[in-house]
Amino acid sequence: MKFSHVAGALAAAIAACMLATGSALAQQPIVVKFSHVVAADTPKGKGAEKFKELAEKYLPGKVKVEVYPNSTLYKDGEEMEALSLGSVQLLAPSLAKFGPLGVREFEVFDLPYMFDDYAELHKVTEGPAGKALFKKLESKGIVGLAYWDNGFKIMSSNKPIKTPADAKGQKMRIQSSQVLSAQMKALGALPQTMAFSEVYQALQTGVVDGTENPPSNLYTQKMHEVQKHVSVTNHGYLGYAVITNKKFWDGLPADVRAGLERAMVDATKYANQIAKEENDGALEKVKASGKSQVIALTPAERAAWKKALVPVHKDMEGRIGKDTIQSVYTETGFKPD
Ligand code: LMR
Repeated sequence: MKFSHVAGALAAAIAACMLATGSALAQQPIVVKFSHVVAADTPKGKGAEKFKELAEKYLPGKVKVEVYPNSTLYKDGEEMEALSLGSVQLLAPSLAKFGPLGVREFEVFDLPYMFDDYAELHKVTEGPAGKALFKKLESKGIVGLAYWDNGFKIMSSNKPIKTPADAKGQKMRIQSSQVLSAQMKALGALPQTMAFSEVYQALQTGVVDGTENPPSNLYTQKMHEVQKHVSVTNHGYLGYAVITNKKFWDGLPADVRAGLERAMVDATKYANQIAKEENDGALEKVKASGKSQVIALTPAERAAWKKALVPVHKDMEGRIGKDTIQSVYTETGFKPD
């Protein structure tokens, strides 16, 4: 064979090979790992599964969503770094967990008695204040895709906590939020920051006396089995921001990004529709278990809690920013006094 023939055959072979690899690559679905720390049977867990179902339906063969619940892939304190390194593509950390990232404004959601109900909360998460908060994530290389609801927190301990004074001296596990630390200190309690995956054991072994969480988290982690009392204080809100890595998101083919956006819109509707029901149901299950005594508060008792905890708003102005707090007040009509 002449040299030109050999070169021609070689070039053809290389081209064929590239074509085969190219089409093989094109057929490989994009893997989207979604890691979270709660049980699959919670509003967030079910929302993540719904997102997987819809994303794979809207983008057949183009994406594969892998959901890792219960801290099986990353724990609190690990997941944000994993997102920035590209080891995971989707997270839904609670809004109380953005402080360590340097976006303290998210702690506005942790302020006690900031929201009376879901309708007030949605004015923020679905309005300009929620958008402005997402904008603050961009400089950290993060895109905020959606707010997902969980619910209003109850306090648990081995001692009945009916009045704010009852919490005095109790070691209470909190998420990594300075606002939650200030809230516990306002009660005379001793806050202990701890990853969610460690809470059950810490309660069981007495490393901490009690904690706060919406009923669905308490129940699905079996915390009620190691806590003698649960008070329905509804003193604060716990919910999520679904986030992704900006570089990953911007680098997606446009049709894939659009499909994932559509799946996120629909999964968000679903997650936010079930959150209240899931929490009401979990509280009923805690009651029915008989393992933990569920303490209801009278309106007068609730007013006493509010009086003890609302001053935290003013104390935390320096941390969160007066403007951010005011922007939430404007949406909800909250009056501090
Ligand atoms: C917690 O750490 O208590 C919660 O943020 C867990 C969760 O993600 O709901």
